[in-house]
Amino acid sequence: MTREAQGPVPEAAVAAWFAQGSLLVLVGPPGSGKTTWAAQFPPTWRVCLDAYRGLLTDSEADQGANEEALAIRALVLEGRLRRGRTTVCDSTSIEPAARAGLLARARRHGRPAVAVLFDTPLTVCEARNDARERTVPVQVVRDMHANLPDVEQLLREGFDTVHHPQPAAPAPDEPAWARDSTDAL
Ligand SMILES: Nc1ncnc2c1ncn2[C@@H]1O[C@H](COP(=O)(O)OP(=O)(O)O)[C@@H](O)[C@H]1O
Ligand SMILES: [Mg+2]
Repeated sequence: MTREAQGPVPEAAVAAWFAQGSLLVLVGPPGSGKTTWAAQFPPTWRVCLDAYRGLLTDSEADQGANEEALAIRALVLEGRLRRGRTTVCDSTSIEPAARAGLLARARRHGRPAVAVLFDTPLTVCEARNDARERTVPVQVVRDMHANLPDVEQLLREGFDTVHHPQPAAPAPDEPAWARDSTDAL
């Protein structure tokens, strides 16, 4: 893909806290703000299981499409990591096995792996989840929140860096790569 097709690449912003070609693994329960945060990056960087379920079924919530959505994600991840394209993996990644698979994939291609931790308070996640059209069962949100790793655990698992976004994420209609300041990255 050409740079033009991909949109402006935030070279300076990237250098600020992760290397180009990195795999960014977002970690957080539903409603913790992952997708909102990911929206600051060019669309081609973002790999999202919900979106692939939606592509397959017209419903991002259709769990019956998980296997195929995972296969699509694997193909896209593989293609991007092989080419050294920075990639943002927008899924809960609460299960250690899910993170281990992503980490192994980055390592196979010699790419840095960065965890981005969304330890948003449970009350906030629940409230946001309630406000959604497509709500995840509240117990799922609670269980995932209870199983959220901390920074130390993510480093022990082998992530090169753990990023902890500030609560005030940039608005989705104000992408960081279109702004002068890169502070929000
Ligand atoms: N930093 C934030 N400040 C205020 N509202 C936010 C913030 N991040 C996310 N939201 C809101 O919370 C809801 C869930 O966010 P989302 O990014 O979809 O979470 P996730 O992808 O982790 O499920 C959305 O309605 C979004 O607008
Ligand atoms: Mg999301």
